[in-house]
Amino acid sequence: MAIPFRPRPVAPELRSEAATRLDLAHRPRRNRKAEWARQLVREHTLTVSDLIWPIFVMDGSDARAPVASMPGVERLTVDEAARESERAARLGIPAIALFPYTDPALRTADGREALNGNNLICRALRAIKATVPDVGLITDVALDPYTSHGHDGLLSSDGRVLNDETVAVLIEQALVQADAGADVIAPSDMMDGRVGAIRRALDGAGHLDAQILAYSAKYASAFYGPFRDAVGSSGCLKGDKRTYQMDSANGTEALREAALDIEEGADMLMVKPGLPYLDIVYRLKETFGLPTFAYQVSGEYAMIEAAARNGWLDGEKAMLESLIAFKRAGADGVLTYFAPRIAEILAREG
Ligand code: PBG
Repeated sequence: MAIPFRPRPVAPELRSEAATRLDLAHRPRRNRKAEWARQLVREHTLTVSDLIWPIFVMDGSDARAPVASMPGVERLTVDEAARESERAARLGIPAIALFPYTDPALRTADGREALNGNNLICRALRAIKATVPDVGLITDVALDPYTSHGHDGLLSSDGRVLNDETVAVLIEQALVQADAGADVIAPSDMMDGRVGAIRRALDGAGHLDAQILAYSAKYASAFYGPFRDAVGSSGCLKGDKRTYQMDSANGTEALREAALDIEEGADMLMVKPGLPYLDIVYRLKETFGLPTFAYQVSGEYAMIEAAARNGWLDGEKAMLESLIAFKRAGADGVLTYFAPRIAEILAREG
């Protein structure tokens, strides 16, 4: 049977095509025409190996407490943290960063609870190491979760944050953490000379393999607000941290800070906060080539999560887009409170 001839209908936009066609040598849209093509030309990928999961621990057992300014994030008792670390291991998240909510009764002007080998962080380190020995454990070195005034260091009688006296305490804090099983020591205090002092002390105590992840470029930032709620230091913080944390107007200064930390023995660098400081991530990675991490901090988490919960943006897409941005800027990995959710999405999507 003959198939009747039907002239092909011409779409209106094609009818005028000849008149409007641009004579282009390059049409970059060709490489975006289908998912397979986009996949083929994609420059960066986000994998579970890029994720470091920050966790807040608190006293007690079998309990979780929501952090009001970080919806979806909870403080965990040590046993719960160990359970969550099993989830991290199952998902393939390489490392966890631990932060303590210290009982206010234990906070003092000198932050001495930081040096207690049986403090919350040390108990959490031991419990998690015993549960998932192959997950890397990172601990913050800074006094703010332990001081009654909320600063990262010791104060002089006129309220200044003392540098060298603080470093002497931070050395002890690092040793206590390494003894309890910390794999990576992360000084987040921004005192001068602390990386070298901590390196010498770790080596002297035989912790030759304990890595130092230097918060080289840590800015005085409003984006830490929710974290300070989570560790309970916002209520007690007197003043601000601008005499030690960096001025957000400075970029080149971050290179000098990083150069010093590298000279002093840093194994890895960190930039913090994350998205507002992507230029710093890029410059540090380009200049030094060291493993460089970014911290997508509590305020960045809160912004995305709040908008998502209000239905103002697609939370999942925003999370993924924010994280690939770090990879594009050259980061080797990202500390993010989204880590377990991202790992689940990546596992689901294969
Ligand atoms: C402690 C410390 C802070 C953060 C990590 N370590 C707060 C601060 O410096 O005030 C912030 C992390 C976050 O906001 O998620 N020195």
